[in-house]
Amino acid sequence: MTLTRDDAIKLLNDHIQNENLRRHCLSVGIVMKALAEKLGGDPETWEILGIIHDSDWEETKETPEKHTIVTLSRIDDPRFTHALQSHNTHHTHLAHLEGPMEWSLECCDELTGFIVACTLVLPSRKIVDLSVESVLKKFPKKEFAKAVNRSQIAQCEEKLGIKPPDFVSIALSAMQSIASEIGL
Ligand SMILES: [Fe+2]
Ligand SMILES: [Fe+2]
Repeated sequence: MTLTRDDAIKLLNDHIQNENLRRHCLSVGIVMKALAEKLGGDPETWEILGIIHDSDWEETKETPEKHTIVTLSRIDDPRFTHALQSHNTHHTHLAHLEGPMEWSLECCDELTGFIVACTLVLPSRKIVDLSVESVLKKFPKKEFAKAVNRSQIAQCEEKLGIKPPDFVSIALSAMQSIASEIGL
């Protein structure tokens, strides 16, 4: 059964109560859509994957080996099977990370959180005021947003053929386009 964007939003809202986690999923969705446009993927499919990728997170936070498996049991659309199987593969061991949609999700997942952290230290706390240069300047600062895995993001060059400044630019523009939806 084809999962529509509306179905994806419903899945997210039905199973995720935390507003910041919903916003994370919407952010990853919009960045995935922009990456599909850049890399020749189907924008709607890639956006839906972003919206649903963590939609079972609240139920599985104590059992990380089940993260994605719960979502897989809820949907019946083969377009997302491999990508969800590979999203949390270091816990689930379901599938290898391969393919541009899968690697896009892997590389932008952490970047969206980093962009949020960069926004929240601006005087205005508004994402429209954030620049690519400012994100890139904070990237090597280990004490800033410590939890964000930089090497996961930096794989964009090897796995997607997109240089980090371009990757940040694509993600930042995409997130700026839905600023009010993501509370920034
Ligand atoms: Fe996840
Ligand atoms: Fe995520």
